[in-house]
Amino acid sequence: MKAEIKGIGMYVPPRVLTNYDLEKILDTSDEWITTRTGIKERHIAEEWEKASDLALPACKEALENAGMSPKDIDAVIVATSTPDMTFPSTACFLADKLGCSKPMAFDISAACSGFIYGLTIGNSFITSGQFKNVLVVGAEVFSHIIDWSDRSTAVIFGDGAGAVVLSATENGSGILSAVMKSDGSHWGSLYCPVGEKLRMRGRETFKLAIKSMENASLKALHEAGITLADISLVIPHQANIRIINALAEKLGLPEDKVFSNIHKYGNTSAASIPIAMYEAWKEGKIKKGDYILLTAFGGGLTWGAIVLQF
Ligand code: UT7
Repeated sequence: MKAEIKGIGMYVPPRVLTNYDLEKILDTSDEWITTRTGIKERHIAEEWEKASDLALPACKEALENAGMSPKDIDAVIVATSTPDMTFPSTACFLADKLGCSKPMAFDISAACSGFIYGLTIGNSFITSGQFKNVLVVGAEVFSHIIDWSDRSTAVIFGDGAGAVVLSATENGSGILSAVMKSDGSHWGSLYCPVGEKLRMRGRETFKLAIKSMENASLKALHEAGITLADISLVIPHQANIRIINALAEKLGLPEDKVFSNIHKYGNTSAASIPIAMYEAWKEGKIKKGDYILLTAFGGGLTWGAIVLQF
């Protein structure tokens, strides 16, 4: 028994904030942001919009693509660092808005690695035989925790949501390996105290990101029993185009084998991998049966990688 991705969806709020818009409120420039991060614009939620509001259309689309109803879902897992409330979980709000039939529902706090932590947990529920269909979601409204006077973080993050339906299958495809790690001793690199704004030591985070994602990727490939040559596409967390390109170089992959859409969305934290996976699929860059590698890195520190057959 394996867990495969049956359907995928995404949603970003319509309001777009460009680098030129940021030039008007901060001492920054389109040139600096583009060359240092690869970001051109990001989507920003309204003040009243919560993570579950962004997750809802993403989940509806994932269910539609899977040909399933909310009633088929046994568990809802939401990875978010910007939950609707401290409690109840964003997953409880989301399951109710979707009209699910009283599934297990809970949130994961693993910052930008949250979606792959969620996939790993969903995979365990399915391979253990406990559940058949699990909704795994990354949904973030980082604009609500940004200090808009801090140019070193305000230009980086964006809002959005991505979701997958993970289902039991016996056809051989699905998640093949998962490597998840954390190191709390580096918590000060990227954090957000309760009720306060996000803080980041960018350069420190940058260096740790490349090494951690490289190591986790190689370990996940080894555990899956395949090599990089078998991988059709690497889908990394979208934190910075320089991190993505450095990872490609470390792995010895051409840049076109490593997906990026950071120019459109910035860093959407836990939502970045499902949004990137959705767009790669829509653009025909991943097809049924392809091997793909997901890898992420974020506050905690947390990091990891997953190898799956799409
Ligand atoms: O999501 C997972 C975790 N997050 C990440 O992985 C983020 C990793 N870090 C990064 O992506 C990069 O470190 C940043 C994009 C955040 C910063 O790039 P950097 O090349 O590491 O720049 P820096 O922080 O070393 O700053 C270089 C200079 C500084 O000026 P001085 O001291 O050299 O005069 C900053 O004050 O750039 C300045 N600076 C800016 N200038 C214009 C910082 N932010 C800006 C800005 N516009 N927005």
